[in-house]
Formats: sequence, structure tokens, C-alpha cells
Amino acid sequence: MIRLPLLTLRPWAMSDIDALARHANDRRIWLNLRDRFPHPYTRADAEGWIRFCEGMSGPPTIFAIDVGGEAVGSIGLELHGDVHRTTAEIGYWLGASHWGRGLATMAVGALTRYAFEELGLERVHAFLFEWNPASRRVLEKAGYTFEGRMRRYVIKDGRVGDVLLYARIRDDAPVPH
Ligand SMILES: CC(C)(COP(=O)(O)OP(=O)(O)OC[C@H]1O[C@@H](n2cnc3c(N)ncnc32)[C@H](O)[C@@H]1OP(=O)(O)O)[C@@H](O)C(=O)NCCC(=O)NCCS
Repeated sequence: MIRLPLLTLRPWAMSDIDALARHANDRRIWLNLRDRFPHPYTRADAEGWIRFCEGMSGPPTIFAIDVGGEAVGSIGLELHGDVHRTTAEIGYWLGASHWGRGLATMAVGALTRYAFEELGLERVHAFLFEWNPASRRVLEKAGYTFEGRMRRYVIKDGRVGDVLLYARIRDDAPVPH
């Protein structure tokens, strides 16, 4: 559980099914995530996601973004293995009714601090599609550095595009609060 003034990062719970299905069922969100994120996003999808989260072992890595007691988005770290085991990929989405208030930036900043301070990671990175300026801005505001453009690395909704790689390492300047 990570408490910030305007939001809390906390575990997903079965009581979040309706809120999750409502906020996640948005083509604008789906267009910026991997195809494993369903669209349309049904109650059954929401239940499956929460069951998956509840079944995870080890330190918590996936959190609901809770605003005023309602789960309005999700953020998580996907830990890598083998020689990349000190790295995680960060991923996140937020219900559109909450966009533009700095919430994703706060959540990314807090989870990145958690990755370094609690999980002992050395690096957190994010992959974003070239048509996602909002996420690019979120990562820049959270102190991530642009490391490269992977050309034609994605096909989404039939459209081939580039993927941008952003990263923070433990030794970068402290993650802004
Ligand atoms: C990306 C996302 C999480 C941002 O959430 P948010 O809470 O609105 O983000 P913030 O308010 O913290 O910051 C958004 C920034 O992007 C900017 N922005 C938004 N749309 C933009 C656009 N079309 N072009 C340029 N900048 C844009 C905002 O102005 C803001 O920057 P500012 O503070 O300098 O003004 C949200 O839009 C989302 O869920 N998108 C769909 C899923 C997704 O893209 N996930 C990330 C995959 S890598």
C-alpha cells in the first residue's frame, strides 16, 4: 500500500470489478496497451484480472490506483528474469475521466521509488507507442530518460509503428515527489 495525498496504490480486490470494467472499457486506453489488455473490457475480464492479481506471490508489484475509495486505474511492475532480474518494466493506465490532473505522474513516481527502495531494483523502464504523447510526458515528468526508438516494433489495431524506450536507473537524481 502506497499512500499519496491525492491517490493510493493498493491491491486489487473483488469489490473493484464494476469500477474496473467501467474505467478499462475504453478504446483510447486499449490503443496504447498490448493486445492482451481486452477490448471491449467486460466484467468477466475484470474478475479474471483481479483473480490473477490475488494469486500472485512475492512482494506486491501490481496496484490499483485508488482515488477517493474507487479504483480508477492500474499500475504495475513486470519483473524481468535471468541477467535482467534487477530490471522491471513499468506499465499503467488511468480511466479517462481522471486524465489531465497529474495522477499518472504521481503514481509512476511513487512506484518507481518503491522499485528502487523496496524491491532493490537497479532499473525501471517503459515502452510506449510513438502515438502516445501523454505517456511520454508522464515519464519525462517522473524523471525518466529517453533511451531510444525501436523502429516498427509494434503493430496495434493494424497500424505498424515505432516504440520509444524510457528508463530510470537507481543512480539518477531522486524521483520527484
Ligand atoms: C497516459 C496516461 C496514463 C496519462 O494519465 P494522466 O493522469 O492524464 O497523466 P498526467 O496528468 O500525469 O500527465 C499527462 C501529461 O501529458 C500531456 N498531454 C496529454 N495529452 C497530450 C497530447 N495529446 N500531446 C501532448 N501532451 C499531452 C498533459 O498536458 C500532461 O502534461 P503537463 O502536466 O506537462 O501538462 C493516460 O492518458 C492513459 O491511461 N492513457 C491510456 C493508457 C496508456 O497510454 N498507458 C501508458 C502506456 S505506455
